[in-house]
Amino acid sequence: MENIIIRQAKEQDFRDIAQLAEKCSPMATERNSIYHIFTHFFQNTVFVAEVEVTRYDNDSQTDSQKGLIGFLLGFKSQRDTEESYIHLLCIDPNYRGRGIALKLIKKFLKVVGNMGTNKILLITKPINKKAIKFYEKLGFQKNVGYETIKVNGIDAVKDYNGKGEHMVVFQKIISKDDFID
Ligand SMILES: CC(C)(COP(=O)(O)OP(=O)(O)OC[C@H]1O[C@@H](n2cnc3c(N)ncnc32)[C@H](O)[C@@H]1OP(=O)(O)O)[C@@H](O)C(=O)NCCC(=O)NCCS
Repeated sequence: MENIIIRQAKEQDFRDIAQLAEKCSPMATERNSIYHIFTHFFQNTVFVAEVEVTRYDNDSQTDSQKGLIGFLLGFKSQRDTEESYIHLLCIDPNYRGRGIALKLIKKFLKVVGNMGTNKILLITKPINKKAIKFYEKLGFQKNVGYETIKVNGIDAVKDYNGKGEHMVVFQKIISKDDFID
């Protein structure tokens, strides 16, 4: 039997997060210390998806294993307390297309919404068409207020992260409907 839960990260999750991130190309990866900073200092806005697989033999439990299959690293802006940012979102390729990323985002919106956030920001690489489609479907708007250039047919903000690092900048204005159960 397989049970998937969404929960707030624990500090030691940073090791599993680092391993899982390797499966999430073209998403950028970080040094372990950055994942650790998130699970320590931003723990209340970092969420993981965890699967527990339990095996039974003639109705009696024989084995149970847990593992991380997704994570969302986010934080509330220190500069503008009404903004929050999603730094990385990653789902194990074997578990994609099952609404797990959506659940992580909803959990994040609920928590930061209750902290006073009304705008969510994030960036993606223009080559990451899957992620771009995913965020557009969730109602995120692209490159609001920026001049853009086309990168392989995708509108991106020129040199956003330095020379040649054009990025798609997403934002979503959230309302109470996005985070009240
Ligand atoms: C982008 C990414 C996070 C999406 O994760 P996911 O868990 O597959 O996303 P979801 O399942 O919530 O949604 C994906 C699709 O499945 C659909 N879906 C399937 N079953 C679903 C369910 N039970 N509930 C909701 N949606 C479901 C969604 O509607 C969505 O449709 P789409 O393909 O038309 O967009 C994932 O592909 C990933 O980890 N990519 C690599 C890392 C990355 O690029 N991250 C983003 C930049 S930081």
